[in-house]
Amino acid sequence: MAQNPGMSGTVDSYGVVGHPVAHSLSPFIHAMFARQTGQAMSYRLFDFPPEALQESVAAFFARGGRGLNITLPYKVAAVAHANELTKRAQHAGAVNTLAMRKDGTILGDNTDGVGLTQDLCSNRHVVVTHRRVLVIGAGGAARGVLAPLLGLEPQIVVIANRTADRAKALAAAFARLGAVEGVGFRYIAGGAFDLVINATSASLTGEIPDVPVGVVGPDTFCYDMAYGKGDTPFVRWCLELGCRAAVPGWGMLVEQAAESFRLWRGVRPLTGPVLSALTAS
Ligand code: ATR
Repeated sequence: MAQNPGMSGTVDSYGVVGHPVAHSLSPFIHAMFARQTGQAMSYRLFDFPPEALQESVAAFFARGGRGLNITLPYKVAAVAHANELTKRAQHAGAVNTLAMRKDGTILGDNTDGVGLTQDLCSNRHVVVTHRRVLVIGAGGAARGVLAPLLGLEPQIVVIANRTADRAKALAAAFARLGAVEGVGFRYIAGGAFDLVINATSASLTGEIPDVPVGVVGPDTFCYDMAYGKGDTPFVRWCLELGCRAAVPGWGMLVEQAAESFRLWRGVRPLTGPVLSALTAS
């Protein structure tokens, strides 16, 4: 086990695996959680190249590592490391958390979706039940949040994607869990939605998904799963359209981390102070 010079005695070792991963805010977030809850643990960045992923993750656990977060581009590949998956990880087809259990087996979980619903419902007080929800995008980010979203029993979740076939396939895969429909951007019907979630990677290139402006109305709550300094392009676009509110995904980032922390340590940290610290500057 790793020694953490900041704490006395042996500490449990955690980290985040990605490629690249240097930009990750997870070490900052988990260090704050650990201080707040008095947990003796270390949390490091692990940039493993694709060809070394499998053996590096296995070596981390073989050396006594207790848990890992998994970020892009490995959330699907890391499923192979879990001996068992939670239901939500099965639905997502991807893991963002691996936890070593007492019996030496590894549990794979996906806390992204519950991170989103926790931020929406507890922090933002957004009502999803019986409301119309538009999810823009049909990649891994959208897939990861659909099960927890549908669990809130919205009237309908419309998945809209630039490539319509991907939206239709994703909707079909989740049809058992609730009312869900997949369409191309031009075929989004029914006027303004109660909740619009941007789950595309368009923000990475400063773009806005080309959805009809009518999906956003004065009562629409808009959520961008992306985050960055200041407002994202999608948040700015929604605000310009006169939506009720539009927020970037800082809360989802912190809430998904808190769920991972709870799985590992059995205690759920307070997220408010961490969110304030991240968005202060
Ligand atoms: P992730 O795991 O981040 O979801 P992904 O699986 O590559 O990444 O999916 C990216 C999503 O963003 C897709 O829904 C993609 O649309 P396509 O399926 O048509 O490619 C969407 N996307 C990326 N850039 C976009 C843009 N400029 N406008 C609209 N949608 C975009």
